Amino acid sequence: MLKYKVLLKITGSIAAYKSAYLTSKLVQNGYDVKVVMSESAQKFIGATTFEAISNNQVYTDMFAPREALSHISLMKWADLVIVAPASANTINHFASGDGNSLITALFLAHDFNKPYLIAPAMNTKMYMHPATQNSIRTLKEWGVKILDSDNGYLACGDTGVGKLLEPDIIFEEIEKTLKPKKKNISVLITSGGTKENIDDVRFIANISTGNTGAAIANHLISDGFDITFLHAKDSTLPKLDCHKVEYFSFSDLNNELKKLLSQNNFDAIIHLAAVSDYSVSEIKLLDENYSLPLSKKMKSEEETIELKLKKNFKIIERLKSYSSNKNIILLGFKLVSGNSESEKINSVNALFTNTQSDYVVLNDFSNRSQSVQSNFRIFTNEKELNKVESSLELAKIISNLILKKKGIK
Ligand SMILES: Cc1cc2nc3c(=O)[nH]c(=O)nc-3n(C[C@H](O)[C@H](O)[C@H](O)COP(=O)(O)O)c2cc1C
Repeated sequence: MLKYKVLLKITGSIAAYKSAYLTSKLVQNGYDVKVVMSESAQKFIGATTFEAISNNQVYTDMFAPREALSHISLMKWADLVIVAPASANTINHFASGDGNSLITALFLAHDFNKPYLIAPAMNTKMYMHPATQNSIRTLKEWGVKILDSDNGYLACGDTGVGKLLEPDIIFEEIEKTLKPKKKNISVLITSGGTKENIDDVRFIANISTGNTGAAIANHLISDGFDITFLHAKDSTLPKLDCHKVEYFSFSDLNNELKKLLSQNNFDAIIHLAAVSDYSVSEIKLLDENYSLPLSKKMKSEEETIELKLKKNFKIIERLKSYSSNKNIILLGFKLVSGNSESEKINSVNALFTNTQSDYVVLNDFSNRSQSVQSNFRIFTNEKELNKVESSLELAKIISNLILKKKGIK
């Protein structure tokens, strides 16, 4: 059975003792737990307690001997990171991008394909302070899941919000995130970009990383969807558990889609893969004529070579006919760059007409900037529904659209 790895960060709150119970509950339920403690946290409870309960080394110092890269390796190790209890100080440091302790540096290095949970614990005034509230808003925007705080008796004698959630509830949140309740909805996601061989060692590729596909998959998996992830070789993979199938070229992708769609009864397909419009049909060297299939390496002495490409058909236009479920929900992506607004709308309309897509996401590459990584506009064939700038926001919308179409929301 898969053993999930949880990185538990403990910061300086009187509630730190509750994390001993949380660690124990996680361990008893089969989780592998590693603990990181802030300097202040160790004033409330000793590292030895967590070392004994977790049966793992406890990390406290970024500069400890032989631990020089723990701020990266622990992040890579974890399937999920949780800060419990999270002090106001740490929450505000996170939002400012500080990295002068192991806990904050690990946050800066975090890979947001993995869940990051924060369970705040503090006095009501600290919790409601504009600095803390602003930080919580910022962290949510970055993809952090901020758990509610309880309302109740606080160590300082006050009663109000800011109290750490009971560890049993925090445990449930971790379980819910890593082992979501199944919704019985199966979704096929294509992601990454096709590569077209020129010879045995060279290919034509595109810039698709697969990041958006992996982010959407992670979100849908944590929402309880069954995901089959059809991905390019070397593209980003979802961190959460799902069925993964690899493709290389246009024809591989087409064959895999035919097979998967005819043999399964998917409820929806999210077709993000960047599919090459052309494949290599012929290579002409000056002194030789190579034709595909190629079985050797192209010569490098040639001054010029001619590469002949042949047009591929549009896979997306065939998806509904490949599918055994004729009511499959199809969500297509259209990448545009430098087009006028009317050209963009025309290309969205053309996609609806030619593919019978239920939804189209227009991804405007030219609108990217340092601060705006993505620019997604979501359409039905009647109107524009939303405009979002992050893969996470897009994933939430896609999840809701599928649930709505299936009559679940
Ligand atoms: C007895 C005591 C209890 C404290 N409880 C909390 C608390 O529950 N939440 C909080 O945000 N800060 C609390 N603090 C203050 C933090 O420990 C302090 O801001 C510290 O610098 C936090 O460091 P850290 O975020 O690196 O762990 C408490 C301080 C003391 C002395």
